Amino acid sequence: MMDGKFDNDIQAVVDADRAHVWHHLSQHKPYETTDPRIIVEGKGMRVWDQKGKEHLDAVSGGVWTVNVGYGRERIANAVRDQLIKLNYFAGSAGSIPGAMFSERLIEKMPGMSRVYYCNSGSEANEKAFKMIRQIAHKRYGGKKHKILYRDRDYHGTTIGCLSAGGQDERNAQYGPFAPGFVRVPHCLEYRAADQGAPVENYGEWAANQIEAVILAEGPETVGGICLEPVTAGGGVITPPEGYWQRVQEICRKYDVLLHIDEVVCGVGRTGTWFGYQQYGVQPDMVTMAKGVASGYAAIACLVTTEAVFDMFKDDATDPLNYFRDISTFGGCTAGPAAALENMAIIEEEGLLENTTKMGHYMLDRLAELKDKHAVIGDVRGKGLFLGAELVADRSTREPMAEKRVQMVTADCMAQGIIIGATNRSLPGLNNTLCFSPALIATKDDIDQIIEGVDGALTRVFG
Ligand SMILES: Cc1ncc(COP(=O)(O)O)c(C=O)c1O
Repeated sequence: MMDGKFDNDIQAVVDADRAHVWHHLSQHKPYETTDPRIIVEGKGMRVWDQKGKEHLDAVSGGVWTVNVGYGRERIANAVRDQLIKLNYFAGSAGSIPGAMFSERLIEKMPGMSRVYYCNSGSEANEKAFKMIRQIAHKRYGGKKHKILYRDRDYHGTTIGCLSAGGQDERNAQYGPFAPGFVRVPHCLEYRAADQGAPVENYGEWAANQIEAVILAEGPETVGGICLEPVTAGGGVITPPEGYWQRVQEICRKYDVLLHIDEVVCGVGRTGTWFGYQQYGVQPDMVTMAKGVASGYAAIACLVTTEAVFDMFKDDATDPLNYFRDISTFGGCTAGPAAALENMAIIEEEGLLENTTKMGHYMLDRLAELKDKHAVIGDVRGKGLFLGAELVADRSTREPMAEKRVQMVTADCMAQGIIIGATNRSLPGLNNTLCFSPALIATKDDIDQIIEGVDGALTRVFG
């Protein structure tokens, strides 16, 4: 199959793509002279492009999605069987896979209770924002409507989600944004000095900045806070010691709903089912998307506690007292059918355990690279979700220029290893290499990734 040659029609595919497809996050001028990349096939940890070139995928489909790896026939078969039986009915009715997956999911999320289906991470986050707004109207005369979000976090691509977007370069030129979203400081310990933070108890200090914002805004105006458990595209920011415990306390103290965005961390990425479970917090709302069905079907979920759910049915005589929201494609049955198989694979193959084990191994190997290459200022991560921050000067932590960081990812790509990097998101701080191999990664896969990065760093920085 993978002999470096696909059939002759592949040039027609490339031509059609160049002529008509508008690629995500891409400047298209270069495609006037070079071919766009077409990914044709995938198996396990590897994909093949239109030239038949093999790539080891260290970012699970580019954007940390294909958690169980490529080519899973049992997911395809389950989806096929379900589509033939019933492909779709609007979410005002139930479906067999929808009901079954909700039960399996809630088993993994003690304290949570209700699953609302939709089809992208952005959409799930929008729905959480709408719930917080509706609760504010129902209970607090509209006053407790503000939603806090954190510097460097990303929650999606819509105008609503960008309004809660902590990445100024990502947001640039798309304003004006929706009112009522308020930023809190990031919690990246490596850059604590830039925030004027004390050296001791950084986690508590960073969480206390959230309290300061709540007090400045007025607690009676703040309804919710949306946070990534580990910030993804903002630089793989693992939370500092003590951070989440304090965040939970603050949310309870001021009656602020805690909405955790698990779009990246959800379903195994960090070695537990959900990222928040690493830190012992109890959210009110959880959103998830990418890894829920590993990209075999589009599915996203907003999961809430029964207490949140109850607020939408406590007065059945009020015609407005329910969540008046719909997602057409939230009724597609392929999503939960794929998600059920995806979850079964993670359990049967022990992929949470593998993620924890391989995550430690990869973090150690990145630390070795840090010892060897002065350009690496910091390595961090949880499970198979890791980052290496590149700096021009270790003592000042001056960020490496984005162009040179991109030279590292390009060198790896030329070697047939796909890694990621923060890009065009954080002004002056797009300097973190990102790794999120599938949860099936072996030591050999990780060694190959590390050797590729080692070579690239040597070639780019000497
Ligand atoms: C943390 C986080 N939340 C939300 C989203 C948006 O998800 P989607 O692209 O499915 O709308 C992303 C996408 O990268 C993400 O990283």
